Amino acid sequence: MNGNVLVSGGLGYIGSHAATLLLEKGYDVVIVDNLSNSRKEILSGIEKITGKKPKVYFEDLKDPAVPEKIMKENDIKAVIHFAAYKAVGESMEKPLMYYENNLFSLINTLKASLNYGVKNFIFSSSCTVYGEPEELPVTEESPVVKAESPYGNTKKVAEDILTDLTNAEKSFNVISLRYFNPIGAHPTALIGELPLGVPNNLVPFITQTAYGIRKQLRVFGSDYNTPDGTPIRDYIDIMDLVEAHIVALERLFIGENESNFEVFNLGTGQGGSVLEVINAFEKATGVKLNYVITDRRPGDVEKIWADPTKANKVLGWKAKRSLEESLKTAWEWEKYYRQNLDV
Ligand code: NAD
Ligand code: WQD
Repeated sequence: MNGNVLVSGGLGYIGSHAATLLLEKGYDVVIVDNLSNSRKEILSGIEKITGKKPKVYFEDLKDPAVPEKIMKENDIKAVIHFAAYKAVGESMEKPLMYYENNLFSLINTLKASLNYGVKNFIFSSSCTVYGEPEELPVTEESPVVKAESPYGNTKKVAEDILTDLTNAEKSFNVISLRYFNPIGAHPTALIGELPLGVPNNLVPFITQTAYGIRKQLRVFGSDYNTPDGTPIRDYIDIMDLVEAHIVALERLFIGENESNFEVFNLGTGQGGSVLEVINAFEKATGVKLNYVITDRRPGDVEKIWADPTKANKVLGWKAKRSLEESLKTAWEWEKYYRQNLDV
């Protein structure tokens, strides 16, 4: 393929795995990342896995001159836009910071794309747009509800912006991918999720507890209306997730998209409870977890999982890795990171 793929947030958790797979598939990759939630060492991991050196801009997309410069200096053919802040709790305390970063970065990247004739854009959306669904599993037609956090609202507003833009610009093609709960790491353990500070998400908290960084895992509530009383999510392996991005990108390049704004759920279609994740982790790794059941975490939804039929049929993509496989790679990454990068 001639021309580059711009991966914004390409040193972050999902972006680094996507950049790696793109390089392995022969794409030329340009990364922009301001390191606000990532580290340069991830770049070494990408280079070790692929044997290639992507071009990297350590710059901030909130500055409109940054995407303009990148588009000017590189023959960009598509953008995969991962760059955003993602901590739900922090977004409640610092809403402006979230709206500013997530929406300015998006708008600046979109404007530069239009100015430089880039026609293909993939956006990282989230199952958070469905809130607490009334019917399960959720399809792409399930109602998008009022967001429960500023973070969630940035995803909803971003999808509105993309809807309006693709209505106005018929030759600009967008695919919005609604991720469920991505977990796990690259099978080499050279890249993975790198939460700065105390993790909010379940799986990094589990691996840090198993490693002894955290004393005890708290299970937030066991009085939900679910078979074992703990909340249910659709945990999807990071490699399955990024494979869907390649398929989506190729769909845009070939021009197979049925409309210029398409939305796909990326999930496994299987719900797993918190206790099931803990059990699967212990089974996959042989490590016992120290955990305690505590009160509910405010704002948590009770249960959500995807109907991935649209992505299965239209993209020809299906999540194939098991929960245990993902938890094993997450654990391998935690150990590799602590032994090699945690200096
Ligand atoms: P992440 O924080 O690991 O990666 C985001 C990357 O973007 C980081 O490396 C960060 O440094 C960079 N970044 C942030 N703001 C930037 C800016 N202004 N300019 C340049 N770089 C910037 O997060 P992730 O888990 O990889 O998530 C990627 C995307 O997927 C985000 O848009 C997130 O909202 C979305 N998403 C994530 C999840 C999840 O659970 N991880 C679920 C649904 C959606
Ligand atoms: C999963 C389950 C917790 C930590 C968040 C965002 C959402 C999305 C993904 C991006 C829940 C329980 C967790 C812990 C626990 N991101 N848990 N102890 O809540 O599904 O979603 O991340 O768009 O927007 O809200 O993911 O990993 O935080 O929690 O018991 O220490 O694990 O209660 O049931 P969640 P999570």
